[in-house]
Amino acid sequence: MNILLLGSGGREHALLWKITQSEKISHVFIAPGNAGTATLGTNLDIAADNFPAIKQAVLDYDINMVVVGPEDPLVKGIADYFQANEEIKHIPVIGPDKKGAQLEGSKDFSKQFMSKYNIPTARYLSVTDQTVHEAVQFLKSLTPPYVLKADGLAAGKGVLIINDFYEAVTELYSMLEGKFGKASKTVVIEEFLSGIECSVFVITDGKDYKILPEAKDYKRIGEGDTGLNTGGMGAVSPVSFADEKFMKKVEEQIIKPTIDGLLQEKITYKGFIFFGLIKVKDEPFVIEYNARMGDPETEVVMLRIKSDFVDLLEGVANDNLSEKTIEFDDRYATTVMMVSGGYPEDYEKGKVITGLDEVEGSIAFHAGTAMKEDEVVTAGGRVIAVSSYGDSKDEALKKSYKNAETINFEGKYYRKDIGFDL
Ligand code: AMP
Ligand code: GLY
Repeated sequence: MNILLLGSGGREHALLWKITQSEKISHVFIAPGNAGTATLGTNLDIAADNFPAIKQAVLDYDINMVVVGPEDPLVKGIADYFQANEEIKHIPVIGPDKKGAQLEGSKDFSKQFMSKYNIPTARYLSVTDQTVHEAVQFLKSLTPPYVLKADGLAAGKGVLIINDFYEAVTELYSMLEGKFGKASKTVVIEEFLSGIECSVFVITDGKDYKILPEAKDYKRIGEGDTGLNTGGMGAVSPVSFADEKFMKKVEEQIIKPTIDGLLQEKITYKGFIFFGLIKVKDEPFVIEYNARMGDPETEVVMLRIKSDFVDLLEGVANDNLSEKTIEFDDRYATTVMMVSGGYPEDYEKGKVITGLDEVEGSIAFHAGTAMKEDEVVTAGGRVIAVSSYGDSKDEALKKSYKNAETINFEGKYYRKDIGFDL
């Protein structure tokens, strides 16, 4: 079969790496892809949310399945677009429809959903400029720090955690007045939860699900989890504190009620659900849902899936996921993200990347890279995710760090303490 994968980051290179190991695959296309995905398939110069061009590519290249990497096309309704088009209606899209993607696209929607289905999450209040008075009362009922979240997608920047009450009120007004554009016309105020975070993923056909390997990502730019938030600086799987007992609670209290709730809401959810969790004492709470896989979590999760991944994707497409099995690799997997100097603030692009051919014992997943004549150059803040296996976390990390030294580009930076807290 031929697959079209949408997206252009490390997540997509890792998905492609796993997908192309399947004997079921004839050819893969990636829209738009990067220099790494081009080594495994054919990059198409089409943006991941250009639906008419994607439709044309599906027809031109005899595509049998579309796999969606990032949230943008999902929230914009790519699955609905396919459903509404006679010529491509029969082509399965791995990713939820617009309504299902609201789990990620609207924090207000996801909080209402969790409260309706008794899924453990932080106490909250959703407010608009019409209800600011209630908001101030609610803030007073909380103990600091205060958590303010823009309802809509805000490129990962829409969450503020503020210690001072008066500053929280000021920020709330500024959000409602459009600090994050339309995304913060509604703001979710939450109680602050104190604990340790991890990411749990499921693949679902809407009725049944398979839990994928869990992972922990490291979002801050600086060592010891300090400094600005980034898209993610590295990841580790498995996660030591997500033991069998904890995962049982996650499944019973969070995963099952989520799948049942989606069914009850008549949402046909076919794709991935990413549960951003926090463990408070011994109990799991949902911090957020995402309607896609995580990045850089995918760069370790794919390493830990032994089964044929395309077989699972077919289970989603054909509504028979319950007949499929998933097997994990027992080894540890780690990824270390090499980023451009200055990231997550301003950084330069177009720096030549050397040493990729000398990588040994790791897989260099490309995140922000492009080809410029015959050379691979940087094309984003996150550049290369150096992923490795090991019999222990430290052994895997040692390989990732050794290869992160080998790979070079002007201004390169990476955290040297991934997994430090596990
Ligand atoms: P989100 O975009 O909802 O995942 O929030 C971004 C980050 O803010 C999370 O990964 C957490 O570290 C933190 N965060 C969000 N909500 C809460 C909360 N209720 N309590 C504590 N930390 C939170
Ligand atoms: N690594 C977090 C995310 O993909 O949103």
